[in-house]
Amino acid sequence: MGEMEGRVAIITGGASGIGAASARLFVENGARVVIGDLQSDLGGALARELAPNVVFRRADVASEDDVRALVSCAADSFGRLDCIFNNAGFGGAIGGIAETPVEEWDLTFGVLVRGVFLGMKHAAPLLRHRGGSIISTASMAAVVGGYSPHAYAAAKAAVVQLTRSVALEMAEDRVRVNCICPGFIATPLALNTVGRPESALESRKPSLARAQPIERAGEPRDIAEMALFLASDRSTFVTGQAFVVDGGFSAGRAWRDQPEWQRTAHPLKIYRPR
Ligand SMILES: NC(=O)c1ccc[n+]([C@@H]2O[C@H](COP(=O)([O-])OP(=O)(O)OC[C@H]3O[C@@H](n4cnc5c(N)ncnc54)[C@H](O)[C@@H]3O)[C@@H](O)[C@H]2O)c1
Repeated sequence: MGEMEGRVAIITGGASGIGAASARLFVENGARVVIGDLQSDLGGALARELAPNVVFRRADVASEDDVRALVSCAADSFGRLDCIFNNAGFGGAIGGIAETPVEEWDLTFGVLVRGVFLGMKHAAPLLRHRGGSIISTASMAAVVGGYSPHAYAAAKAAVVQLTRSVALEMAEDRVRVNCICPGFIATPLALNTVGRPESALESRKPSLARAQPIERAGEPRDIAEMALFLASDRSTFVTGQAFVVDGGFSAGRAWRDQPEWQRTAHPLKIYRPR
């Protein structure tokens, strides 16, 4: 019996990358899943592949009507809701602060922050009845500067703090609220291959391997495993946290990249007064 047997989860951004890997892993573990995404072709194909355990519904997470309908879809299709994984995202506004158009800033926050807020807001009433889990995808960019555009970094930091704040309220109903901060994960978003064939993604993986101390490309499944832990009963005493899953990137410089003198054993030259 899988860890998610009988459970129902909504996964936004579930048509691709981290969300699609999570949908697969949740279903492998007995869950039924509603995917909400803008990419109807990919989302529909995944739902057909994993039928009858996955339903796809086109939804823009920045739209309150769409998110409300997505939550209703879970209740109508499967009769309950145990988990929402607010994972949909994109790179958002890029460029210097003085050149960032206000509309692009607002669009970025609309998807990355309002999208998470709306998922929490509309799932909360259903989760309150039975306990459950709210998971959101933040980013390593919320923790370390210099690896994403300004708006993205600020929006993901907002997701971390919204997670803490809502966790304190929902703990009274035994609903856990956590987020995941992925490092570099080989997905169309991170490798700029959205809408291109799978081979384009594969060919770019080797360049990701040296980005962090664990010398391989981060895979969507690495994040899905953390999401499964947070969705399942293994984490019933875990709430209000941001879990970094980044192959050691945010810990610091890889051993292999540290200076030779530091990596090579030599007799200590300690000053000893005579
Ligand atoms: N890949 C990484 O290195 C990385 C690192 C840190 C955080 N993240 C975050 O992980 C999450 C998943 O991204 P991914 O890397 O799997 O990329 P991805 O492009 O493979 O998947 C993102 C999905 O979100 C969907 N989406 C985008 N805007 C949407 C909207 N307004 N409404 C509904 N769906 C929408 C896309 O259609 C896509 O299917 C995002 O929140 C991203 O910011 C990714």
